[in-house]
Amino acid sequence: MGEQTKFATKLGIIATTVGSAVGLGNIWRFPYEAGMNGGGAFLMVYILCVLILGIPVMCAEFVIGRRSKSDTVDAFRKLAPGTRWHYIGYIGILASVLILGYYMVISGWTLEYLFKAFTNDLAGKTAAEFKAEQNAFIQSDFRPLLWAYIFLFINYIILSRGVQKGIEKMSNILMPLLFVILVVFCVRSLTLPGSSKGLSFFLHPDFSKITPQVIIRAMGQAFFSLSLGMGILITYSSYFNAKTHLIKTATTVALLDTSVAILAGVIIFPAMFACGLNPATDSASVVGPDLVFVTLPNVFNQMPVSTLWSVLFFLLLTVAALTSTVSLFEVTVAFLINYMHMSRKKATRIMMLIVAVLSTIFSLSIGSWSQVRILGKTIFDACDYFSAIILLPVGGLLISIFIGWVLKRHISREELTNRNKLHEPLFNAIFFSIKYIAPIIIILIFLSGFGII
Ligand code: TRP
Repeated sequence: MGEQTKFATKLGIIATTVGSAVGLGNIWRFPYEAGMNGGGAFLMVYILCVLILGIPVMCAEFVIGRRSKSDTVDAFRKLAPGTRWHYIGYIGILASVLILGYYMVISGWTLEYLFKAFTNDLAGKTAAEFKAEQNAFIQSDFRPLLWAYIFLFINYIILSRGVQKGIEKMSNILMPLLFVILVVFCVRSLTLPGSSKGLSFFLHPDFSKITPQVIIRAMGQAFFSLSLGMGILITYSSYFNAKTHLIKTATTVALLDTSVAILAGVIIFPAMFACGLNPATDSASVVGPDLVFVTLPNVFNQMPVSTLWSVLFFLLLTVAALTSTVSLFEVTVAFLINYMHMSRKKATRIMMLIVAVLSTIFSLSIGSWSQVRILGKTIFDACDYFSAIILLPVGGLLISIFIGWVLKRHISREELTNRNKLHEPLFNAIFFSIKYIAPIIIILIFLSGFGII
C-alpha cells in the first residue's frame, strides 16, 4: 500500500464510494424499515440523520483517511501517536468482519434468485409457493452456503486485482449499470395502473409511529447505508488524491445513496399496490427478507415479460451487494497488507477464509442451528443488531470526538479546504457538527433508544 495506491480518476472516486454505500441496505433494508416504521415520517427522520450526522461523520472519516493515507488502524496511530485511539480501527475491523459474515449470506441468496430468474424458475408461481420455496431454501444447509462461497470467490477475483484494476474498474462499470436499471424500474413501476396509491403509502407520514426505538433504527440505518462508522471511508479516502474535494464528495455520495434508497421505495411500493398487495394490511409481505425474496418475485409475475423484470431486479441486487462487500473486505485487506506486511493476494485469501467460516455459521443459524439464541435472537439477527445498530454509531461517535476534540482543528481545515485552495464556506458548519452536534445527538439517541432517558 502506501503513497502509490490511488484511485485513478475522479469518476472512480465517486463510483467506488457510492458503490460501497449503495447496497442491500438501500434496496432491501431501507424500504421495509420505512414501510413498517411510519413511511414518510421515517423518511424524514432518516434524511435528518443523513444531513446532521451522516455528512459530517463522512467528512471526518475522509479527513482521517486522506491525511494519514493509511488503513483504519494505522491511520489513528499516525495522527495520534502513542495514544489508544487506534482501538477505533479495531472496532471497525470487528464490525466489518461481522457484517461481511451475514452480508455474504444474503448476497448468496440474491445469486440463487438471479439464477432462478435466468432459468425461468420464478415464473408462474403463487405467493404461497414462493414463501414455501424461500423457507425451504434459506433453511437448507448446503445450497445457500454454496452461493455464499461463489459470491466470496467473485469478491476474491476483484480484490486480488488491486485498487485500480479491481475495485475501481468494477465500480466504473457496475455503478452506471445499477443506475440505468433503477431508472428503467422506476418508469415501469410508476406507469403501472394504481401505482399512486403505493407512492402515497410509502411517502405518507405517520408521526404516531415515531418512537425512540424507531429513531435509533433510523440512525443505524443511516450509518449502515452510508457505510459509516467503521473505517471503510477512511480506507477508501486514503486512495483519494490531493485535489479531491472532500466536502463535495461527501455530499454527492450521501445524496446519491439516499436517492437510491428512496427510488427503491418508489419502485417497490407502487408495484405492490398495482398487483393488489397492500403492505398496510398485509404486513407480513414487507417483513425483512420476504419483501425482496417472496413479495417482489410474486409482483413481477403479474407483469408482462416477468422473467425480464426478475432478472433485472436480482441483477440490480447482486451488483449493489458486490460493490459493498468488496468495500467491506478492503478495510480488512488494507489492514493486513499494511500491518502484517502481506501481499494483497495472501491478505485477501486469509480474509476469505475467515469470512467463509463466519458465513457458514450465520447461514446455518437460520436453518439447522436456529435453536441457538443470543438474547432471544438468532445468531444472525443478534449480529445484525449488534454490528449495525450498535457498533457503527459507536464508531461514528468516537470518530467525531477524535476529529472534534483530539486532532488539531487546522488539520481538518487543511484537508477539507485542500490547504485553503478551496473557498469552503461550509467548513465551520461541518466542523461544528462534527465537534458538538454529532456526538451529542448520537449519545441522546442511544440513551433514549435504550430507555435510559
Ligand atoms: N452501505 C452498504 C449498504 O447499504 C453496506 C456497507 C458497505 C456497509 N460497507 C459498509 C455498512 C460499512 C456499514 C459499514 O448495503
